[in-house]
Amino acid sequence: MVEKSVPNMRHYGRQLFVCNHGDCAPSEEAERLHRLVLERNRQQGLNKLRNPHRIKCTLADCLGVCQGGPILVVYPDGIWYHGVDEAGLERIYREHLIGGRPVEELIFHRHFPEGKEPAYAPDVRGDEALTPAPWGPLEKGGELQPESEDAAGEEAESRRLAARRRRKKKGLVIVNTGEGKGKTTAALGILTRAWGRRMKVGVVQFLKHESARFGEIRAAERMGDIDWISGGDGWTWTSSDMDETAARARRTWTVCQERILNGGYDVLILDEFTYLLHYGWLDGNEALAWLEANKPPLLHLVITGRYAPRNLVDFADLVTEMRPIKHPLEEQGIRAQPGIEF
Ligand code: FES
Repeated sequence: MVEKSVPNMRHYGRQLFVCNHGDCAPSEEAERLHRLVLERNRQQGLNKLRNPHRIKCTLADCLGVCQGGPILVVYPDGIWYHGVDEAGLERIYREHLIGGRPVEELIFHRHFPEGKEPAYAPDVRGDEALTPAPWGPLEKGGELQPESEDAAGEEAESRRLAARRRRKKKGLVIVNTGEGKGKTTAALGILTRAWGRRMKVGVVQFLKHESARFGEIRAAERMGDIDWISGGDGWTWTSSDMDETAARARRTWTVCQERILNGGYDVLILDEFTYLLHYGWLDGNEALAWLEANKPPLLHLVITGRYAPRNLVDFADLVTEMRPIKHPLEEQGIRAQPGIEF
């Protein structure tokens, strides 16, 4: 029988798990909290392998909550915190991890009834009592310098997870095209989904009239936090002043470029953008080259409109063609209705 060597347990007092999967809160927030714990550990001397009160902090994949993050779990206490920002983390660190009093306002779940949490291991082992260092502001901005094997390991883990996140995620270019209904509606579905996940979202409408009050615009006003730019003149298939429409669309493209560069969006809809390319109001190759060079890597762009040109289809990651099969106007003469078409 092959003899297995028994691993050596390096004691610690508590372990924190911070979700950085990215659905409950942006992963960057989890990474900031992780760094803050490492800095506090260093300041408090709780990063040392030989300190029995050592605090381990681990960036974890989804913890199964997926809302109201960042989510942070304290082990072995079985206490789950939500909405943990930097100020909240400072309180958790100082009041709970050092002071032994959980921060009630931030708790949303207890794995054990209050007062029945597993005993603090250093107490059970009879380790020397925790003697906290004086609490003071942390130096901001400097690169963390690992001071111990443990801190170096945690840093490496943080970098690994960040790299994995970068590999896993990509801002997509999504095109909804075709003759059928539902191109903008499907784009707005994505927008609603992203808004629900507290992502920054916006809409640029190239042709719809700048003073239009469609149902979706009213909904966005009621939801709040949605940037909505309409630059068109209400162009329809029968419009006569195409020069004015084209000029407005080009002006809106300039606004849109600025928003892509500086808006900080997670999702941006370019509604009816395909017409600018199809009708030659913009040079398609130039516009796509600009997007290639300037689109932030994690920004999802959703482009709608009929006649998506070949180069746009090639450029996109996801293309859907809406195909009409039956329409109430053609079949039954029923006109557009509020809440359905506008
Ligand atoms: S994504 Fe954070 S708990 Fe699921």
